[in-house]
Amino acid sequence: MLDRDRLVACLPKCELHIHIEGSLEPEMVFALARRNAIRLPWDSVEALRRAYAFGSLQDFLDVYYVGMSVLVTEQDFYDLAFAYLKRAHADNVVHVEMFFDPQGHTSRGIAFDTVVNGLSRACTEARETLGIRASLIMCFLRHLDEDDAQRTLDAALAHRDRIVGVGLDSSEKGNPPEKFSRVFARARDAGFALFAHAGEEGPPAYVWQALDVLGVARVDHGNRALEDAVLVSRLARDRVPLTVCPLSNLRLRVVDDLTHHPLRHMMEKDLVVTVNSDDPAYFGGYVNDNFTAVARARDKKLKPGEYQGGVSTVSNLGM
Ligand code: HPA
Ligand code: ZN
Repeated sequence: MLDRDRLVACLPKCELHIHIEGSLEPEMVFALARRNAIRLPWDSVEALRRAYAFGSLQDFLDVYYVGMSVLVTEQDFYDLAFAYLKRAHADNVVHVEMFFDPQGHTSRGIAFDTVVNGLSRACTEARETLGIRASLIMCFLRHLDEDDAQRTLDAALAHRDRIVGVGLDSSEKGNPPEKFSRVFARARDAGFALFAHAGEEGPPAYVWQALDVLGVARVDHGNRALEDAVLVSRLARDRVPLTVCPLSNLRLRVVDDLTHHPLRHMMEKDLVVTVNSDDPAYFGGYVNDNFTAVARARDKKLKPGEYQGGVSTVSNLGM
């Protein structure tokens, strides 16, 4: 192992952008499908892996929602989250804020309580047995309407002590943050921290709306903010963190090559950036893989003799 990779492995890290349903490895998809007698459109783990050739966010989401259909019981949600937390612990992750998509489950007839009970039990047990701190952020699916999000918030109020925040994910283009202004205002009044995916595929205007209409504390992805110099100054001035996901950006064609990834440029612009895995089972790597992939891409970009050693310094939330 290179010194750099060893350094990445032993650094304590936080993960702030992980969709727990995106940690569902193909082997677990098939094991849970068997356990719950769910029919899948793929006949093997290999066939499912072959479906992981995405041209866009939507291509990924089409597979992601079918994949999560194997999650039925509280035990399924527990097994999923505990497996991820064990894997994150092996990467020396010490703090996780975990997204989940309740509407991806309630729309299939799974009770909201089933989802939250399983996930939160895994977080509690992982804290006790592994020492990793984990909390839950409930995301609204932005391709659905605001009334659906409002009903989801109603269900979450009974679990206010077990859900730290709300977020916004799914198909970005054509679903601007302002579509969810009322439900985010209610979530704020109820005491939830606020987050939103913005600027992954959507324009800088969506990042402005996430900040000024929704009032988010962090922007998930935020890559396209770099197209707007005034927005970059605003993010830097207010120290709004971007949760950047390099391997996700590569797999979803947000960037064509990691040597062109904007992470370094973001840091040069004095933005607060964090490195995260997004949907590690689908995008080819957990958090350490993301750090080493961007560091390796940087080495490739430097000419021979220019190698400076060490991992890029990536600021986090100072926890
Ligand atoms: N973007 C938007 N929605 C998502 C993602 C993502 O990267 N992963 C899971 N849901
Ligand atoms: Zn995401």
